[in-house]
Amino acid sequence: MRDPAPKTIYLADYTPPAYWVDDVHLTFRLAPSSTRVVSRILFRPNPDAPGPFFLHGEALTTISVRIDGQPVSPTPVEGGIVCDVPDRPFTWEAEVEIDPQANTALEGLYLSGGMYCTQCEAEGFRKITYYPDRPDVMAPFTVRIEGDAPVLLSNGNPSGSGPGWSEWHDPWPKPAYLFALVAGNLVAHRDRFTTRSGRDVELAIWVREGDLHKCAFGMDALKRSMVWDERVYGREYDLDVFNIVAVDDFNMGAMENKGLNIFNASAVLASPDTATDANFERIESIIAHEYFHNWTGNRITCRDWFQLCLKEGLTVFRDQQFSADERSAPVKRIDDVLALRGRQFREDNGPLAHPVRPESFVEINNFYTATVYEKGAELIGMLRRLVGAQAYDRALQLYFERHDGQACTIEDWIAVFEDTTGRDLRQFKRWYSQAGTPRLDVTDSFEDGRYTLHFRQHTPPTPGQPDKDPLVIPVAVGLLAPSGEEVVSTTLLEMTEAEQSFAFDGLSARPVPSLLRGFSAPVILTRSADNAERAFLLAHDTDPFNRWEAGRALAKDALMRMVTDGAAPDAAFIEALGLLLDDDSLDPAFRALALHLPGQDDLAQSLFDAGVTPDPGAIHAACEAMADAMAEVLEQRLATIYDAMQVPGPYSPDASAAGRRALANGALSLLSRRDGAARAATQFAAADNMTQQLAGLAALVRRGRGEDALAAFYDQWRGDRLVLDKWFGLQPGLAQPQDAADVATRLTAHPDFDWKNPNRFRAVLGALAANAAGFHHPSGAAYTLMADWLIRLDPVNPQTAARMTTVFETWRRYDADRQALIADALERIAATPGLSRDTGEMVNRIRG
Ligand code: PHE
Ligand code: ZN
Repeated sequence: MRDPAPKTIYLADYTPPAYWVDDVHLTFRLAPSSTRVVSRILFRPNPDAPGPFFLHGEALTTISVRIDGQPVSPTPVEGGIVCDVPDRPFTWEAEVEIDPQANTALEGLYLSGGMYCTQCEAEGFRKITYYPDRPDVMAPFTVRIEGDAPVLLSNGNPSGSGPGWSEWHDPWPKPAYLFALVAGNLVAHRDRFTTRSGRDVELAIWVREGDLHKCAFGMDALKRSMVWDERVYGREYDLDVFNIVAVDDFNMGAMENKGLNIFNASAVLASPDTATDANFERIESIIAHEYFHNWTGNRITCRDWFQLCLKEGLTVFRDQQFSADERSAPVKRIDDVLALRGRQFREDNGPLAHPVRPESFVEINNFYTATVYEKGAELIGMLRRLVGAQAYDRALQLYFERHDGQACTIEDWIAVFEDTTGRDLRQFKRWYSQAGTPRLDVTDSFEDGRYTLHFRQHTPPTPGQPDKDPLVIPVAVGLLAPSGEEVVSTTLLEMTEAEQSFAFDGLSARPVPSLLRGFSAPVILTRSADNAERAFLLAHDTDPFNRWEAGRALAKDALMRMVTDGAAPDAAFIEALGLLLDDDSLDPAFRALALHLPGQDDLAQSLFDAGVTPDPGAIHAACEAMADAMAEVLEQRLATIYDAMQVPGPYSPDASAAGRRALANGALSLLSRRDGAARAATQFAAADNMTQQLAGLAALVRRGRGEDALAAFYDQWRGDRLVLDKWFGLQPGLAQPQDAADVATRLTAHPDFDWKNPNRFRAVLGALAANAAGFHHPSGAAYTLMADWLIRLDPVNPQTAARMTTVFETWRRYDADRQALIADALERIAATPGLSRDTGEMVNRIRG
């Protein structure tokens, strides 16, 4: 962590391990500040890559080490130890002592609310014992746990237990990053599942007693995931038990440890009164994601951490497919693209831009990014579009057959597609190595019944990559006749050149193009479309994604004109939106999305791209004025919709009920600008579920009438950590720009601001940063507060501190005054004595 000269690791330097591991036996004697770990590991020299015997190890107190029973004294070196070993297979036995109680970084073995748990991805196992902590070393594990906790869990199948101990055996060779151990006073929500070949699997979600009523939905999502992976990918579960554990203190969402997934409580626990529709949906997708890793990540893992997208991109793609199947596919696609643009495009257009497969890193934990995950998933979607769904399925079956039990690379992945389709994918592979979001400029012409689309692609420079090569871009296109009828249905154009044209013949009139349908490639499409064309597509496009996209483009154009020219809210846009809202043939969830204005960060980036220095205050004012105008013009319709979309009967988190609530609550938010938030107050008071309660509360707070409701909400929910996080997050998130920093400051002084808990820390500081106009208020108060807290968090939890430095990644967009204030904040963080390698790397990259 406290490395004076942090080393950069390069993909090009990869060498295979000098020793393989054939078997691992671990014994844990648990004690809060002096846990003993005894390892017995069978090593075998790798004849293909002879080299010194090096084991990773960090913060370990060595008690004893033996080789084949004989005591030895390994030599400490940076990051571990080296030792003289025999030139044949041998047994390594080591006893070390570790201190879970002192582990606030939440990596390795740590304590969360009195419960022992582990987090080993990416490089946490080296904080547990000496080991070749690299993913290409795979071995079966046997684990014995001794401790006084009633529940003692590890990977694999239970192989024995008695008072104060239990033993587990995981027959599937795995890398150390998938190791897990949990011990504590836990209770289980249990179920079972029979795989299609007849294996009986005991399922359990382990929680603290008070959370038992929050497990049913997660369990249901797990069983649906298991069925889906059998049906769609032919993948079955491969152990007798599948355990999920909820922990309060966790740096990420969840972790796919073999047979023992560990979840941030927020990513698994839900009940109607405490979780929103959005929470339920997120839980479903994370449960699926972690479960799907069993094949894409665990059975087939990554050779090295540069290949992270091999498991993450693919597993995100699979969880997206799952959610699309379980819910509305178009709505899911829109949500995913919103997330991609909001997080990944933002990353790709700033100082942290990196390829989906990076070529170097200082701290791998800094590369669990939107680019690796979300853009990684987009690359798989493009591959599938290019080769077709059936060829994709065949390639995947070959992948599973050929690579089961192996640690693989992107080259292996591409090869299964080349081998099944005969296609040359060398150019496609550039997507993995070239950073930045491609711009796709489109013009068109029409002559003698021939309609031609001209495309020009270019990718702006990114750090370390000044020049870019043309990519393979699948552009899904449809053409509409002036009557609104579709004359060319969705056709996939494969663009491979820097500039390329595609012609359509036999058209009787100039068509209107619907471009990049379904968002067929992660690019920024630029076309000087006029608003009449957008309104036409909003009314007529058969592709739901592009229909939404047309509305969004209209909204964006209107808002940008308000900011740059002081234009009034665009009446034509509001009218078109009104027509869409009234269209009862459209899914309410889709209409709810159309009602949402583009995000303020998104607008800032678009203004910047258009050569305008964005002023977050002005953007905020424009969005407010637009929402006021929408509320005024559409008041009657919104009131009708609000009433019509109420869902009778007991709460259910299903997609259709959630869609109705989303539309009703979108209407509520606007109506609150007209009715003094009367409806919001009523809804807040009457709500029997968190979705309704929180939407009521948010509307009240937005209108400046939230004080009593906030107090009531706190009194009602002070005993529920996850709900309290919502209370903490809502206030800085919705504060007026000039108040946001004060609100956040006040909350960080609240007795319940348990800042060492990552969820609570992010609730306040993350929400502050998400309030663009508040965070970027010209006073600079929010920057200062953020820097103060990152400096305080860094020595306690470097991973979470480092991750949150990304709040500053967009700083080059802004005016000189803001840039100077942010530069000061970054400088102050960088100059902090003992700054972690994690945060140090991030701040250096952001500063550029
Ligand atoms: N591998 C986890 C996932 O994608 C994420 C994770 C990474 C969790 C590192 C913890 C630490 O599901
Ligand atoms: Zn994952």
